[in-house]
Amino acid sequence: MKRQLSVSMMCIDYGNLSETLKMFEDNHVDYLHIDIMDGHFVPNLMLGTTYVEWLRKATKIPIDFHFMVENAATDLEWFPIREGDIVTIHVESSWSILNALTVIKSKGAKAVLAVGPQTPIPSIVHLLDYIDGVCVMLVIPGFSGQSMIRGMEEKIEYLRQYRMENREDFFIEVDGHVHRNNIRTLEKAGANIFVAGTSLLGVNPKEYVERIQAFYDI
Ligand code: DX5
Ligand code: ZN
Repeated sequence: MKRQLSVSMMCIDYGNLSETLKMFEDNHVDYLHIDIMDGHFVPNLMLGTTYVEWLRKATKIPIDFHFMVENAATDLEWFPIREGDIVTIHVESSWSILNALTVIKSKGAKAVLAVGPQTPIPSIVHLLDYIDGVCVMLVIPGFSGQSMIRGMEEKIEYLRQYRMENREDFFIEVDGHVHRNNIRTLEKAGANIFVAGTSLLGVNPKEYVERIQAFYDI
């Protein structure tokens, strides 16, 4: 599958944001990854509706929503979700997962389940037919700048097997500590959408272009 880049907006420098978004468009960034945290499901609070509405006016790049909240089924209604977006909710978050997936589908977005590092893939097998892909968290959800937890490649391989046997368009996203040194291994395991945060783009906005261009050449 084609390698795709989803830039983690919680990690991006906010100075000259309009120019940065233009550069993302010029360099074919596939998605803007928006981490939404409610301070309960994860011990952090960030990225709200006003910011996403501003982004909607500023760029046509589709949004890759990552809900780290206790009740995605209600919270996602507050956001301007469009056809072509990705909407990811955590399987560990609430009992109303199927309800939330139905809401996401009704908006024309791709419905994705995220699995935290402690959640085994066999525990979501019964839900795979309802979703367009899985987001495998490589770090504990909530904060950028962490190191990858060991053993996550096996989860990706399991999902690649599911893709091979069932649906060739089933996508596998990886989030957290995506780095130029692990992209090849993760891709070989089966990942095709890569969330680029501080580990891939660094913290100096002057380096973003070079690092994004390098991503496609790895
Ligand atoms: C972590 C977030 C990630 C994070 C990735 O909970 O979901 O999107 O920003 O950033 P790095 O590359 O710093 O791990
Ligand atoms: Zn994320």
